[in-house]
Amino acid sequence: MTRPLSGRRIVLGVSGGIAAYKSVEICRRLVDLGAHVVPVMTAGADKFIGRTTLSALASEPVQTSLWSEASPIPHTKLGQNADLVLVAPATARVLAGYAHGLSTDLLTNVLIATRAPVVVCPAMHTEMWEHPAVQDNIALLRRRGVHVVDPEEGRLAGGDSGKGRLAAPDVVVQAVQRVLGPRDFDGRRVLVTAGGTREPIDAVRVIANRSSGKQGYAVAEEAARRGATVTLISTADRPVPAGVEVIDVETSAQMQAALDSRASEADVIVMAAAVADFRPVSCASGKIKKDAGIPEIRLEPTPDILAGLGAHKPAGQILVGFAAETSDLVENATSKMRRKNLDLIVANDVSAPGVGFQHDTNAVTFLRPDQPLESHPLSDKRDIARALLDIVARLLA
Ligand code: PMT
Repeated sequence: MTRPLSGRRIVLGVSGGIAAYKSVEICRRLVDLGAHVVPVMTAGADKFIGRTTLSALASEPVQTSLWSEASPIPHTKLGQNADLVLVAPATARVLAGYAHGLSTDLLTNVLIATRAPVVVCPAMHTEMWEHPAVQDNIALLRRRGVHVVDPEEGRLAGGDSGKGRLAAPDVVVQAVQRVLGPRDFDGRRVLVTAGGTREPIDAVRVIANRSSGKQGYAVAEEAARRGATVTLISTADRPVPAGVEVIDVETSAQMQAALDSRASEADVIVMAAAVADFRPVSCASGKIKKDAGIPEIRLEPTPDILAGLGAHKPAGQILVGFAAETSDLVENATSKMRRKNLDLIVANDVSAPGVGFQHDTNAVTFLRPDQPLESHPLSDKRDIARALLDIVARLLA
């Protein structure tokens, strides 16, 4: 029987705190669930627990040093090969090093080098946990997409008690399972678009919009994590999620060409990109000069890429659109869903606080033909991506 974490490679970082002994139990549980666990200990952790204990329970011997004869660049290899990096316990020093890019040992190097999702489980005395420096670092890491498992209240070293105790092993392991998610997209090909198209006016100017690509990248990352072969057609300059192929485009015409060449092969297409509705009829070859007076820029409509995909949708393909609205959210999105022959539309009211363009968060309503709507409250764009793919997984099944 396949175990829930079979085939998943997890780097388990252990830093130097009294809670380091709990990493042994966490390691054992991850291995029991089928994960391949590669332990990395800091010099501090080495003082709290024996390497032999962790090596005996993990899938590979403990690594502690950047200077290994077996592998000349262990940090990049460990980071690149990982499906997830877990740090339990994470001390204030390791959190600070990670937040500020200070690669002082193997573990902080791995954290900076990896593109895999990272889960950190802070553990320290209450006074340290509450210090603004630690809280600022935690907030910074959260903003960057790092998953933080908050410490619990309870007994601490030296007979003290308060907030700062490492979360219980089952809480940590559940967080890992949640982040890694199910492998329900194994063998599926998923195309995602992200970012705002840029339509040239002249050699230096464009008509653009405010899309950052965050929502589309979150969908691509989540689909890849769940086993899909993902191609992301993007205008955005963002870190590439692990295992995702990116095709860089700029204009709606380039986005359409990239989609057209791959659409027929895809099991799922998610159009999260903000495609321009209008573009200049022509692009001036050089830079339009100011002294030539105010230019008249004639616009023409761009082709509706999504409607084109909907018109030629192969049997079994799931086509997902987004609707960016500022009023009449459900009515407008429903009409787009019907007009473009979509299986699902994700409607966001981009005039609401924290919603839509550029934010790390979004609030959406999922609409499907002849089905009750599902609203998802304001949450991280990765949660929206997860909820979206849960619906798509049901449709594919
Ligand atoms: O990138 P972020 O900063 O994270 O912001 C996320 C987002 C707000 C861009 C995203 O959540 C979103 O709403 N994307 C769709 C934006 C949009 O163009 O919506 P629309 O209602 O104008 O278009 C409806 C659908 O048709 C969209 O899927 C769009 O990709 C598609 N479309 C639109 C015009 C066009 N010419 N061709 C298209 O395919």
